[in-house]
Amino acid sequence: MGEPSHLPKHVAIIMDGNGRWAKKRYLPREAGHYAGMGAVRETVRAACDLGLENLTLFAFSSENWKRPKTEVGALMGLFRAYFRSDMDELVERKVRMRIIGHRGRVAPDIQTMIEDSEKRTAHNRGMNLTFAFDYGGQEEIAAAAQELARAAKDGRLDPETITPELFAQRLFTSALPAPDLVIRTSGEHRLSNFLLWQSAYAELLFVDTLWPDFDRAALTGALEQFAARERRFGALDSEAVA
Ligand code: FPP
Repeated sequence: MGEPSHLPKHVAIIMDGNGRWAKKRYLPREAGHYAGMGAVRETVRAACDLGLENLTLFAFSSENWKRPKTEVGALMGLFRAYFRSDMDELVERKVRMRIIGHRGRVAPDIQTMIEDSEKRTAHNRGMNLTFAFDYGGQEEIAAAAQELARAAKDGRLDPETITPELFAQRLFTSALPAPDLVIRTSGEHRLSNFLLWQSAYAELLFVDTLWPDFDRAALTGALEQFAARERRFGALDSEAVA
């Protein structure tokens, strides 16, 4: 498979299907998540090699706390393991890490790990790798609205000056371009509260692959599908205008 001709600026992925991958193999769900960590590693490597500028991965949603304690514990353990085992490689690849989400609800050692990884990679100019962790899109939008309302109430902000651009600056993703490709694996056709504001104009791609089976070829295939789609942002296409 060749390299895709026209790369998106920002790919965001809803990694779904770990549980079903494990069930098909008569394994516990945790084994699916462990295999999912391998797919994270391979996808990050492939994205770096392809020269992708921004990759955002949905690692843990604010709704995932409702899962059984053992599964939540296993996911937290994997997050720790991934940071411990892969940080050196990410630094070497000049990846800049960001974690978007609530933060205050995760264990203190994970908070420290997150802060350290962001600090350690802050000057890197390679791919921006962002993990959405304890993240919910509606929560993010509500928090931005609260902040703007507070500023307006204190007289620091004229409500008439609130534009989509200003609003976007209050979101976790203010440093990143909007995703132009959102991929969801495992055949489900939902956004599940992921980057709701940011995905307004994104191409959505739903693939049947279960996340643990997602790999370099799957990413390349998704990027080729993106390159084949024409994006018009509500305008007419160039042929119609001519
Ligand atoms: C969905 O599968 C996936 C998740 C809940 C989280 C994604 C987690 C990983 C890829 C594991 C490791 C991550 C990192 C960053 C090290 P599911 O359990 O909802 O699958 P199902 O719908 O088939 O049950």
